[in-house]
Amino acid sequence: MAITFDQVSKTFYLDGKNITYAFFINEWNYAEHLYFGKTIGHDDLRFIRSMGGLSALAVIPGEIRPRDTWWRMDSYHVFPSELTFYGSGDYRESAVLAEDIQGVRVSELLYVSHEILPEKPAICGMPSMKGGETLVVHLQDKYNGFGCDLYYTVYEDADVVARRAVYRNNGAEPLTLRRAYSFAFSLMDQEYDCITLHGTWARERRIDKTPMHHGVFSIDSKRTTSSAVLNPFLALARKGATEEHGDVYGVSLVYSSSFVLKAEGVNDGRTLITGGINDFDFSWKLEPGTCLETPEAVLAYSNEGVGGMSRCYHDAYRRYLINDRFADQPRPLVINNWEGTYFKFNTEKLKALADGVAGTGIDTFVLDDGWFGVRNDEYSGLGDWFVNTQKLEGGLKDIIDHVHGLGMRFGLWFEPEMVSEDSDLFRAHPDWAIGAPGRPRCRTRLQFMLDLTRKEVRDYIVDAINKVLRENEIDYVKWDYNRNVTESWSVGREPERQAEFAHRYALGVYDLCERIVNANPHIFFEGCAGGGARFDPAMLAYFPQIWTSDDTDAEERTKIQYGTSLVYPLSSMSCHVSAVPNHQTKRITDLKTRTEIAHLGPTGYELDSSTFTDADREEIRNSVQAFRSIEALLYQGDLYRTENPMEGNYFGLMVVSKDKKQGVLTAYRRTLIANEDPAVLKVRGLAPEKKYYVPELELTLQGSTLMGVGLPAKFKPADFQTLVFHFLAQD
Ligand code: DGJ
Repeated sequence: MAITFDQVSKTFYLDGKNITYAFFINEWNYAEHLYFGKTIGHDDLRFIRSMGGLSALAVIPGEIRPRDTWWRMDSYHVFPSELTFYGSGDYRESAVLAEDIQGVRVSELLYVSHEILPEKPAICGMPSMKGGETLVVHLQDKYNGFGCDLYYTVYEDADVVARRAVYRNNGAEPLTLRRAYSFAFSLMDQEYDCITLHGTWARERRIDKTPMHHGVFSIDSKRTTSSAVLNPFLALARKGATEEHGDVYGVSLVYSSSFVLKAEGVNDGRTLITGGINDFDFSWKLEPGTCLETPEAVLAYSNEGVGGMSRCYHDAYRRYLINDRFADQPRPLVINNWEGTYFKFNTEKLKALADGVAGTGIDTFVLDDGWFGVRNDEYSGLGDWFVNTQKLEGGLKDIIDHVHGLGMRFGLWFEPEMVSEDSDLFRAHPDWAIGAPGRPRCRTRLQFMLDLTRKEVRDYIVDAINKVLRENEIDYVKWDYNRNVTESWSVGREPERQAEFAHRYALGVYDLCERIVNANPHIFFEGCAGGGARFDPAMLAYFPQIWTSDDTDAEERTKIQYGTSLVYPLSSMSCHVSAVPNHQTKRITDLKTRTEIAHLGPTGYELDSSTFTDADREEIRNSVQAFRSIEALLYQGDLYRTENPMEGNYFGLMVVSKDKKQGVLTAYRRTLIANEDPAVLKVRGLAPEKKYYVPELELTLQGSTLMGVGLPAKFKPADFQTLVFHFLAQD
């Protein structure tokens, strides 16, 4: 049993593989947090309760504190919380704020009952982790019919707790939610650093570390997408915790719209963590008998440092989030025409690109942007999902047949959520583009966003794209998304419901994914967002891999892939080998370096392959073979980050199989430094007692030796060089 309830102490114990999460229903029927961390016994934990934050303490509404009992725990403000609410004496960050028709914004959500379900019910209209025993705790405000169900799911083979809240109107009058977060929980001190992933286009998911302080540390997105600017992820690492050691707590939101995550240093010395849908520009009307489901927050804990937390997420997402038909399976190895041709192509050119890689082991040809409508640059055509026969004279069929004839699969690019100003679709339905009445719209690439909150708009997109997929033999789709919402407003929606837009847009995206991605299970879908601007767990539920960044420069990629790996498994990071000078940075790196860095995820090529010589093809054939030989290890093994490229001249990622029989280390040195002290590369994750053959050294060494001594960093004497070591257990 992963979930147990002690009737006497009214404590819930949720046990994962190596973790316990515990809370109890206190004497005021409040869900009070007790513990989250390494596995512990099911003892009565109430002995650790203590009073803090006594300044101007508000006693629970209606209670009279007896004289001389100032230590009595009778204020919501002092309880480590499972869900903070507003207006009843708790001054911490509220997880929820509900307003009734009289404008009253006071809540008291208290325990009524609970149930333990053998399997987690899916969230209506939103992706979430699968399976897992689930606790549902029903809370109710007795004054206005406002209710909340707290969901907790744990897995016997994973170190995560999946949490969400469902807000219900069980009363007779409408309620308006001004804030509706997914969860709250408390850590008992404030000795933490907040770790987040920030970025921008072509510089996605760099690591930030901010010391926890009094007041609120907060990250968010207001873009109606998760964004490259801040990923929906927050970790609290105990001071002094490193990549390999120490307590680290993670929160990862399965959500693709405007979010917020907060860690509050409270006056009681504790840290309150909460978040979910961003309440900036948000409200949600709850009619009687309706509910709002919030996105799932996946909490992780490891005492093996930041690396341990990452392995918790990788295991959990590979097993319970990513489509299990693909999660750890070999991926299409693509040639994509984007950087090879941009918009300048015709059928002959595309055929030449495909011919250029035939027989190398590259097995999928992906036709990127520009095949449809009148789309000769980025300023027109989006939304017109019919083939441009001026460019592709034989239609899609001709090029698809050619690619299939070479024994390769065929992939096609779409940007389903968009419409160009210069398109038949926009001319026919200008009101389908998101915009506010009487105001001009912001342009990005002269394109607007379609209003996915409207069913008729979604129906059009689904029909148009499914028609192309039905009428052509398409094996692979790249789903792009190149701008963010600006003027969020929807035709036909009542004014008091306009601030529901950002969440309704997310529900619209998920509906499209259900009706296009899940309705075409024979097609492999890759996610993309102007590079990696929508790299989040919700998208991973539909797209087993996501284009990590438009920046394919090997040097830049070491940082992007390192940061991304904090939460996301290598199998989710799509990586391409591109031409030099690199199109984003103009940097020149060796093909070997570009290839070995790209081989740290589902790999592909993106360059003009029509000019390849036999020697180029031979080199690619060998590298494809090398990649295929480690692919299963990369997707199924445990990741150890051995050198941080943001902190030094080196980058290192090592993957070790679960049975410890195999490992691979990819290391990289940025610049050659004259007369540099010889460096040693760290080796991690091997079984200390096993002996490993390292072909690159032609040596067999014990795991403990390799991990204790490391490996010589004998890079070629030049800038931007890689070394790859394999470890093969001999017993
Ligand atoms: C942005 C993507 O990240 C690129 O790979 C490419 O597909 C372009 N969009 C096409 O417009």
